[in-house]
Amino acid sequence: MIDHSIAFLDSGVGGLPYADWMRQRRPDLPLTYVADSASFPYGEREPDDVKRAVLQTAVKLFDQGTPRILVLACNTASVVALEALRAMAPCPVVGTVPAIKSAANLAGAIGVLATSRTVSSSYLDGLVEDFAPGRQVHRVAAGDIVRFVEERWLDDGEDGAREVLGPSLAQLKQEGVGSVVLGCTHFIHVMNPIEKELGSGVQVVDSRDGVGRRVLDVLKEAHQVDENAEIAPSGFWVTGNALQSMHRRYAQLHGFQWEGPLT
Ligand code: DGL
Repeated sequence: MIDHSIAFLDSGVGGLPYADWMRQRRPDLPLTYVADSASFPYGEREPDDVKRAVLQTAVKLFDQGTPRILVLACNTASVVALEALRAMAPCPVVGTVPAIKSAANLAGAIGVLATSRTVSSSYLDGLVEDFAPGRQVHRVAAGDIVRFVEERWLDDGEDGAREVLGPSLAQLKQEGVGSVVLGCTHFIHVMNPIEKELGSGVQVVDSRDGVGRRVLDVLKEAHQVDENAEIAPSGFWVTGNALQSMHRRYAQLHGFQWEGPLT
């Protein structure tokens, strides 16, 4: 049941940590999760392709029902498609962008770990100009970590993660950054190994609090639903066949009922 849920949309499993955040604070809210697996990975596509994929998937989602709020739980998609999605959505849309503002409050140079599409975006340039003017910002593109989380993290665990994270984190360590912004939602799954690898001198920052609080604010303004209505179970949908067995595992681990393809 998508109607009245808080819906999360990402290319894959990156939005799950945001759904977890919401469930911890508001276990009464039904959630919908959509992994746009047919277009994964967004970070290796042209901006127009990402925009097209996001809008097509949103149309399929809205054909099934209208969520109370749609969270575009993907930085890559948000920097290219947020405005277009808001223009066509029948509900409020909350985007996800790298938490430069939070990192600007911390000491030292700022590292940004994200997809190549996000690190080279003018949107990120704008965030740096607005919230961290004059600060040193080192950007590292790490599409290999996205693929690792999607395909191997559940099987390979911390040992596998260390191997994949090594080269990207070595670049950031070499720059002597004081903080690292996880500018890709997928990376939150491997936040623990990232923190271990960077050591206690580097603060790792992500946008779950900012996005989650924004959703709760928007929820206060959104139309109220009948509090006595039966709460539908939270459902996990995909748009393609790729990685379905992995997605089923992720869905179960994060408390979602498997719904299968969103057609
Ligand atoms: N999770 C997405 C993000 O936050 C990127 C994943 C992908 O490349 O598909 O940028």
